[in-house]
Amino acid sequence: MDSDENEYSWKVIFVTMCWEAFKMGVKLNDTVTWVGKIDWELRKFHGEEYSTQRGSSYNAYLVRDEKTVLIDTVWAPYDQEFVSKLKQEIDLKEIDYIVANHGEVDHSGSLAELLREIPDTPIYCTQNAVKSIKGQYHQDWNFKTVKTGDKLSLGSKELVFIEMAMLHWPDSMATFLTGDNILFSNDAFGQHYASEMMYNDLVDQAELYQEALKYYANILAPFSKLADNKLKEISRMNLPIKMICPSHGIIWRDNPLQIVETYSKWADNYQENQITIIYDTMWNGTRRMAESIAEGIRQTDPAVVVKLYNMGKADNTAVIGEVFKSKAILVGSSTINKGVLSSIAAILEEIHGMSFKNKKAAAFGSYGWSGESPKIIAARLTESGFTVVNDGLKMLWNPDEQALEECKDFGREFIAKL
Ligand code: FEO
Repeated sequence: MDSDENEYSWKVIFVTMCWEAFKMGVKLNDTVTWVGKIDWELRKFHGEEYSTQRGSSYNAYLVRDEKTVLIDTVWAPYDQEFVSKLKQEIDLKEIDYIVANHGEVDHSGSLAELLREIPDTPIYCTQNAVKSIKGQYHQDWNFKTVKTGDKLSLGSKELVFIEMAMLHWPDSMATFLTGDNILFSNDAFGQHYASEMMYNDLVDQAELYQEALKYYANILAPFSKLADNKLKEISRMNLPIKMICPSHGIIWRDNPLQIVETYSKWADNYQENQITIIYDTMWNGTRRMAESIAEGIRQTDPAVVVKLYNMGKADNTAVIGEVFKSKAILVGSSTINKGVLSSIAAILEEIHGMSFKNKKAAAFGSYGWSGESPKIIAARLTESGFTVVNDGLKMLWNPDEQALEECKDFGREFIAKL
């Protein structure tokens, strides 16, 4: 195929997708239609906590066999749009069942609007999802609780339910459609990544990997041990998975097990040959220390990737992704009011919650009077499961050339201890 033909094919695919998106539904095959919402505008998720620079999507799926089932819904701000477009796809009264794989509002947020029209429709979910959905909507809907291995016949095909507790809520589950061999994995294997292209083989692979990793690092990493066990359990079930349809981002149809294999790697104390230096600085003393420490590291080991982030300016969600990839981190702050700068306190709190394993660390910072910051940082890193390899480095006032040489030595000695 020459480049003109190639470009034409892409345009045809794009226009087709746009048209399908306009209609709302995008047919994945003869059985399954995507009926979700692509949210190009989303820039923050979980309140203001998580950045979503590439937007996201809330994927819901309509499965038609002799029975018809809706798997998940979309976030509440789009509930009316969701129900309205769903009506273009199907007479709502033809929906026999709803599956709620997870109770968090980005997937359950349209249930109230939908159930106003079809109030008695059974909702298949875990026992914990009954708690989370009732806790948020205060409605006694027609819940049918399921456990791993339970099946729901749709006629010629079945849904098989798989509890996914703590991936990432206690109520999470996945649903497998026999016959078509599609795993509706909910949050697992997702990405906050808006794309009209829908499928993993049609999007930029570097963007996809980056968003999948960021998502894992920020949402699933605290539960890596459970994720590892669950992946092994799914593998033992010998499900012939042909497609993985998560609740965010693109659908894995080309070699779908690649993301399962990648998750296995990430769940196993993942690290790359990277050191991340995180700092904040009042009058540039701690910044200059950070840069000199980085220079010492690079002089000693040119192969190691060193990245520096001023947390007063950097994106916390992205930095958590970098910490996830790192074999070691250095955290620095000026001392202020006998403590650390607030951006450093915030990122340390996030790091603590991630339960990272098998990583080393050290602390540093400049000061004018009391100089507590490295000690405070080191204590928090130890509480967070990091091996703190030394007593840290603090510099009085703005470091001069001799002090910066000491910082370089600190970097050299740090990498020697990894
Ligand atoms: Fe995408 Fe846990 O909700």
